[in-house]
Amino acid sequence: MPVRLILATENQHKVREMRDLLAGLDVEVSHLGELPDPPLLTETGSTFAENAREKALACACATGELCLADDSGLMVDALGGDPGVRSARYAGEGATQQQLIDKLLGAMQDVPEGQRTARFVCALSLASPDGEIGRWEGRVEGTITREPAGEGGFGYDPVFLYPPSGTTFAQMPPEAKNAVSHRGRALAAFRADLPALLER
Ligand code: IMP
Repeated sequence: MPVRLILATENQHKVREMRDLLAGLDVEVSHLGELPDPPLLTETGSTFAENAREKALACACATGELCLADDSGLMVDALGGDPGVRSARYAGEGATQQQLIDKLLGAMQDVPEGQRTARFVCALSLASPDGEIGRWEGRVEGTITREPAGEGGFGYDPVFLYPPSGTTFAQMPPEAKNAVSHRGRALAAFRADLPALLER
C-alpha cells in the first residue's frame, strides 16, 4: 500500500509543481483542497522554515496523516530581503499577482542594474501527528527585471530572471523551471531522503 502524503497547501500552482516533482514515488499525493474539512493553516513565524513547520504540524494534527508543507518566497537584496516570508501578502491580503509585481517593480524603480539580485527560497517540512520528521530547503539565484515577461508559472515568476537561461521563470516550460527552482531543489532533497524516512 503506498503511503499517503497530504500537501499542506491550497495554492493550486504549488500543488501542480509539487505533484510533478513527486511523480514516480510510491506515495499517494493528496492536498488540502481534496479534503472534506480542510484545516485552516496560519503562518506566524519569521522564517520560511518556521512557517513550513507550523503548517505541516497543523495539517498533520488535524488530519492524523503525514503532511508536507512548503513555505516559500522571494528575497531581494536591495530591499533588505523583502518581501521574504511576506511574499504572498506584500501588496496586502488577497492581492493579485499583478498587484504584487507592480509593488515590487515600484519599490525597485531606482535600483540600478547590478544591484537587482534576488533569490527564491523554499522551505519544506514533513510532519506526522507526533511531530516534525524532517526539513529541507532549496534556493535559486536570479535578478529582478524592469518589466514582466512570460505567461507561465505564478507569483513573481514574470519578473524573476534566471541568468543561465537568459529568461524569466515565466518564460520557461514547467519542467525547465522545476529542474532548477527553489521548490524543485528542495523536493529533490526530500525525495532522496524519503525512502529512509519511510523505513523508520
Ligand atoms: P506562501 O508560501 O504560501 O506564504 O506564499 C509564497 C508566495 O511567494 C507566493 O504566493 C508567491 O507570491 C511567491 N512564490 C513562492 N514560490 C514562487 C515561485 O515559484 N514563483 C513565483 N512566486 C513564488
